[in-house]
Amino acid sequence: MQSNPLLDGLRIEPAPGPSLLVIFGASGDLTRRKLLPALYQLSRAHRLPPRFSVIGVAKTPMDDEAFREQFRTSLREFAEVDPAGDAVAESLAGHLRYLTGDLDDQALYQRLAATIEEIAPGSGVLFYLAVPPSLAPSVAGHLGRVHLTRAENPSAWRRVIVEKPFGSDFESARQLNQLLHEHFDEPQIFRIDHYLGKETVQNLMVFRFANGMFEPIWDRRYIDHVQITAAETVGVEQRAGYYDTAGALRDMVQNHLMQLLTLIAMEPPVTFSADSVRDRKMDALLSIQPICTDGDCSRSVFRAQYAAGWVDGREVPGYRTEPQVNRGSTTETFVAMRLQLDSWRWAGVPFYLRTGKRLPKRVTEIAIQFKRPPLQIFKQVHASPVAPNLLIINVQPDEGISLRFEAKLPGMRMQLAPVMMNFRYGQAFGGAVPEAYETLLLDALIGDSTLFARHDFVEASWALVSPIHEAWRAEAAAAIPTYEAGEWGPRAADTLISADGYRWRTL
Ligand code: BG6
Repeated sequence: MQSNPLLDGLRIEPAPGPSLLVIFGASGDLTRRKLLPALYQLSRAHRLPPRFSVIGVAKTPMDDEAFREQFRTSLREFAEVDPAGDAVAESLAGHLRYLTGDLDDQALYQRLAATIEEIAPGSGVLFYLAVPPSLAPSVAGHLGRVHLTRAENPSAWRRVIVEKPFGSDFESARQLNQLLHEHFDEPQIFRIDHYLGKETVQNLMVFRFANGMFEPIWDRRYIDHVQITAAETVGVEQRAGYYDTAGALRDMVQNHLMQLLTLIAMEPPVTFSADSVRDRKMDALLSIQPICTDGDCSRSVFRAQYAAGWVDGREVPGYRTEPQVNRGSTTETFVAMRLQLDSWRWAGVPFYLRTGKRLPKRVTEIAIQFKRPPLQIFKQVHASPVAPNLLIINVQPDEGISLRFEAKLPGMRMQLAPVMMNFRYGQAFGGAVPEAYETLLLDALIGDSTLFARHDFVEASWALVSPIHEAWRAEAAAAIPTYEAGEWGPRAADTLISADGYRWRTL
């Protein structure tokens, strides 16, 4: 069927009204790598409003022109775009401003208020806290004190995006929420988890709730167990200052993996609206059973740290010898865990999570293993039990969904073999998928918080993992096991899953 351009023209996409984005931490890595390229792509796709400007704020001295030059450089480095002669880049550059100042200094915020009034009177304002977590309370407090957090009218809305890490444990997350709530109402607060902006992660909801055939079998009667893996080949890179105090549990599990898990485990929401979706995710999170018993988490959690080894054909140093890492560090770079959800849907179905740096391959996937058929009618012709059906959701890098099932091998004899049915994003739709930050920035400008973490989610998620940190702290300092860089974590992590009769998937 041919498309009808007249009807296409009538398709209504939510679009932000006149807006201003204020980036705190505008000279930093996140701004250069992600935010500025995302703004360019949004502008190129005509998703930014005609009246749109950006004010970058940071301590690093720069003027407007230097900030514009930083924008052009980041397009070259991180978006593979040559800004010279690119009309979109030049037009956006013309709407960039920069304020130098100490984020702890009230005078900076007075200057900011005056600049907002000068360049974007009556616009909505989105504050982006791309700053270390220690600075977030100060910035929010100052914004409140100069009355920049309250909307004057519905179109002059005020919102704030808070980057991860959101706190470092349950107590600090609770305090940060409390402080933000002194100055912003919950619907104004957008806690970012970039995994929620990934196309494949959003597709989890579409896959489950826009299709009739999977939901009836999406429970303990048909699903045997679930494995979620987020494997990276990179090491700590230049981020030891943050990572050495965080570790894999804080950096990946508390946020990204818990989001993936709840999207798999949640009940169907009544509508696709922010609170309906987040209520159901919250139910799933709350159904997770405590991970530790009497301060002992060793039966459900395993941690390790990478030692020197080889990744992608390159020799790489061990974690403790990476730049700026404490030589005696016991920070974990690998975590594997087993979770049990105490709900009608999931009782008795284990969820296994693992994440690590310096593993052999970059891959994030969710594997849902179904139960075997109740009767093995092919056992006479097929010596070993048939392979269970498996649904694999490839979050990255090879985005798609695969289903494994048994088929008859061609030939006179009845022989069985597992085969795959594959859906690949690239093949099915072609074209590039938007980066997570593009989706999330646009959603925040529109005011849609469906893909952002709510205050209760972050607190409940910290409440789950904080006892693990406490237990680790109580253990002997030198106790952390190691794995060779380029291996799939330590062998000992296998016992966590083999004790239940399973194996980690070979990826
Ligand atoms: C970040 C973590 O949130 O996610 C990093 O701080 C990690 O340590 C990154 O490397 C992984 O994101 P992605 O999108 O590459 O899977």
